[in-house]
Amino acid sequence: MARTKLVVGNWKMYGVGSDIAEIEAIAASAKKFPQVETGLCVPATLIERAVRAVPGFPIGAQDVHFAEKGAHTGCVATAMLVDAGATMAIVGHSERRDAQRETDDEVRQKASAALDAGLLTILCVGESLTVREAGDAVPNVERQLDSSLPRGIDVSKLALAYEPIWAIGTGRTATAADIGEMHSALRRRLRAAYGDAGDEIRILYGGSVKPMNAAEIFSVKDVDGALVGGASLKAADFVPIIEAAA
Ligand code: G3P
Repeated sequence: MARTKLVVGNWKMYGVGSDIAEIEAIAASAKKFPQVETGLCVPATLIERAVRAVPGFPIGAQDVHFAEKGAHTGCVATAMLVDAGATMAIVGHSERRDAQRETDDEVRQKASAALDAGLLTILCVGESLTVREAGDAVPNVERQLDSSLPRGIDVSKLALAYEPIWAIGTGRTATAADIGEMHSALRRRLRAAYGDAGDEIRILYGGSVKPMNAAEIFSVKDVDGALVGGASLKAADFVPIIEAAA
């Protein structure tokens, strides 16, 4: 199954107006690789300015609230993100699952709301080092995925990101064998959940993806792209990763 590679940057809590020039540089260089779908998920405060600065280059959010509106201090509804020009959203990132105690059920509701709003929705799953070292990574992440997947909804704009927590921001990347084992397991779970539509859903790898390891990661079966943190902050680092996916 040939799936278009998707390489998305997650800027996390980095990015102010003076960083728009970097987004412009990334968007300009990304045009050289039209066969790779790409974009940046930036802080909500930067979305509208980024969208205006790089028309047609996908800009996304890093979280959504699943309610349409209401007394949810500090949260942002999907309609507000779409109104600001966002076309993508990350949901269930491990940093939010941990710090905000997001449950699988909340992540499932967020994914449903984001898909309902027409956003390309990147649903994150991944295991802790303790789970990995205990040899329970695959069943643990399968359970997390099964509990987080939206049901009874068009999933044509859903993507997954497998991000082993111990590889995020550490410079320590999962081995090609570990990545392959997990992505194959996730592909089976997607087929079980959605039938043939499960084959269309892209599975990204995230966790210390860099220019020097991207090509090997993209060569692994069922790796359809990457969700990139630190290396997406600068065009000089992010564009070579996009190129490696081309
Ligand atoms: O969402 C992507 C992020 O968690 C990976 O971060 O810095 O290890 O590429 P990094």
